[in-house]
Parts: sequence; structure tokens; C-alpha cells
Amino acid sequence: MNITMIGTGYVGLVTGTCFAEIGHQVICVDNDVAKVQLLQSGGIPIFEPGLKELVAKNVAAGRLSFSDSIAEGVEKGEAIFIGVSTPPLPDGAVDLSFIEKVAREIAAHMRSYKIIVDKSTVPVKTGDKMVETIKRYCKAHAEFDVVSNPEFLREGSAVADFLKPDRIVIGVRSPRPVPAMKEIYGAISAPIIVTDINSAELIKHASNSFLALKISYINAISAVCEATGANVQEVAAGMGMDERIGRKFLDASLGFGGSCFPKDLSAFIKISEQVGYSFDLLKEVQKINSCQMERFLKKISDTLWVLKDKTIGVLGLAFKQNTDDIRMSPAIALCQRLQKDGAQLRVHDPQAMPKARAVLKDVTFVEEMNDVALGCDALVVATEWEQFKSLDLERVRASLSHPILFDGRNLFDPSEMEKLGFVYKSIGRGQS
Ligand code: UDX
Repeated sequence: MNITMIGTGYVGLVTGTCFAEIGHQVICVDNDVAKVQLLQSGGIPIFEPGLKELVAKNVAAGRLSFSDSIAEGVEKGEAIFIGVSTPPLPDGAVDLSFIEKVAREIAAHMRSYKIIVDKSTVPVKTGDKMVETIKRYCKAHAEFDVVSNPEFLREGSAVADFLKPDRIVIGVRSPRPVPAMKEIYGAISAPIIVTDINSAELIKHASNSFLALKISYINAISAVCEATGANVQEVAAGMGMDERIGRKFLDASLGFGGSCFPKDLSAFIKISEQVGYSFDLLKEVQKINSCQMERFLKKISDTLWVLKDKTIGVLGLAFKQNTDDIRMSPAIALCQRLQKDGAQLRVHDPQAMPKARAVLKDVTFVEEMNDVALGCDALVVATEWEQFKSLDLERVRASLSHPILFDGRNLFDPSEMEKLGFVYKSIGRGQS
């Protein structure tokens, strides 16, 4: 089919490229002319494993192109997907101005039947508003259907998540667009659930809030483990073997971050409040998430006492592994807090250093992970990059002025670290 993707951020670029990969003719539209030019010249604005190769392959095959003209996109696409950002407003509600503007622009250029598909994460009932807006602004009175088709892509594994999803959610107001939507996803082997549009929109917020809840749950358990000498990883393993619970998203950490969970949680709390329900459970999820960072910072200050004039090495700046994204990154928040308390920082991240340079000032960026510890009073692991597990620990210990390692991602074995001579403090494992 001819597909148009409006918005070339993480969601739009991955989705548009993957639609081309499964055989569709795709045009990706963005109003950021510089970004479109970069994509047209073979560049990629983000780091996402496998994406650069997939873009190059599909552009070469003539299935994928980029444009800054929404008119061209509306004319060419039978289905027009919207993947623009829905950022948070100061009160936690969702800023829908980008999506509303795109709806008006599509309406202005529509001359024939179109399926308009929302991929962005939006509050329940946004689809209804889109229908009203498109009707109002479409002078040609063209027929159309609005569909909600939320994305569940994780940064760092977005291509694989697109090609092998757990499910595809299609929310509709009438049966008319369903066959075309099923054809679009025909090459993907996954269950398709067709729902009303409000339910599809809710599935997204309910899912992300539940996953955030799962992380806060295990982080709360980690606090109890620390108070009792139990091991949170063993607790998670034992809980996870129950199929009703599952082991995924039970890794205790510094807390969740990123461009989705914190924003979606606040939005869902706000949406619920607006319809008359006070979602106190989710407020507690937020509270546990911020306490988790405070508890970790306390471990650092309890051990090092005064941070002023201390040098601390930090491994990891991205909000999680396999991405260069630092939006709402717990690692960046940690760095800023350590700096505020007077510490000097030496930092490294395999991908996120270029983006981190814009927000972290007066910090030494170190290219090689094993060099970060050089002359430091302590080392902190803040992001769960796989390669950090193969740190040269003997060398790190010798480089540190004092062999102290705070592990915010439980990458190492406490007894091994002790044998190697480290003072090792991690999350929810015994008294550490
Ligand atoms: C999330 C959702 O998973 C995805 O379905 C949605 O479409 C977008 O939002 P993403 O933000 O890319 O994806 O990252 P995710 O892998 O979900 O991790 C979010 C945060 O939780 C990260 O900071 C991560 O480090 C943290 N996390 C995750 C934990 O602390 N523990 C875990 O067990 C899992």
C-alpha cells in the first residue's frame, strides 16, 4: 500500500522504515527541513540499532522516501500515519497542539478517502477530537476514517519490536478501515486486536503505566531487601517464574526514565483526574521512582561523606542501554545532583556523550570506559549497557584512588567484587 508517515522522530522513522521493509511504498514527512535533508542524504538523526542499514536498504529499493511537504504526503498516502510528539505540559497533561495542527493540515489537503492513523501516545478521546477537527477543516468534504494504532516500540530494540510485536492494536469507529489496516500489517505475524477507538487509546496509557508500576514494585522490594539482607535478583527470579507475573521489567534500578514512562504516567494520572478518578496507585509509582534515586544518592553520601572536592566516575548517561537518548535519564539526573553537591565528574557513555555535552557542563568526557575511574574517589554505574559488564575490573580498581563502586544497575556479582577488593554497593542485594 501507499503509506505516509508524518513525523520522523523515533516512532515515525522506525515505523515508516519498517513499513517499507515489509513491502509498502512509504513517504516520511517532517516539517523540519534540515532533518529531511539529512535523511535524504543518507544520514540518521538518532542512534537506533539496525535502523541506518534498514533506511539505506529501503531507500535504495525505491520503497522509502522523505519529504517536507505534507501536501505531497496526503496526496500519495492511502493510509496516513501520525507519529508526532505529544510532550507534557507543566501540569502533566498532554500538549496536543502538534497532533491538532497535523490533523488540520491533512484536512486541508485531503481530496479523496483516507485512513488517518494515530501512532502517537494520546489521551483517550483524542480520536473523537481528530474526527471533529478534520471534518471542520476539510473543505473538499472528502471521506475519511480515524484509527488508533498505538506503538509499543522500545528505544534500543525498536526495529525488532516492530517486526515481532506481541500484539497489534487497531482502534476504530467503524469497520470500514479494518481490512486495509490488516493488509498493512499482513506481513507481520502477531495477534491483531480490533477495539473501539477509546479502548485502543487507553491500552497504550494503561500498558505503559503498568510497566512503570512493575518497575516501582521491584524497586520498593529492593528497599525491603536492603533492610533485611535479602537479594532482589533472587526475589525477582522467584516471582518471575510465576507465569502470571513474568520476569520481564523486574530489574531493580535507579528508577525508570526516558521520554515515555515518566510522561505517560503523569498524563494518565491527569486524564483519570479529568474524568473524575484519582489514580493514587500511579501517584505512588511516581513517588517510589523518585525515592529510589534518593536512596541511591544517600548510599553515595553515606560512604563518601562530603562530596565537595571528590572526583566521581560515572558510567552511563543514556536513560537505558542501546540508545543515545538522554531525555529524563536517571543517569543525567544523578550527575547533576552529584555536581550540585560539589563533586567533580568523569563520565562515559558508549553512545550518548554527544547529546550529554549539551546538558552536562564542567564535566570530563572520557572516550574509553576503562579510563573513567582514573584518579576517582569512587565509580558509579548508572546505565545498564551490556559492555560495562566486561569492564577490566582489576584495572579499574588500580585506577581508583579508593576502590569504591556504586552499581545502580546490579551489573556485577557482589561476592566477586568483594574478592576483587572493592567496596561494592548495589541495589537491593543484602546490606549493600
Ligand atoms: C517504553 C515502553 O516499553 C514501550 O512499549 C513504549 O512504546 C515506549 O516506552 P522505552 O521508554 O524505550 O519504552 O524503554 P523501556 O525499555 O521500557 O525502559 C524504560 C525505563 O525503565 C528505562 O529507564 C529502563 O532502564 C527502566 N527499566 C526497565 C528498569 O529500571 N527496570 C526494568 O526492569 C526495565
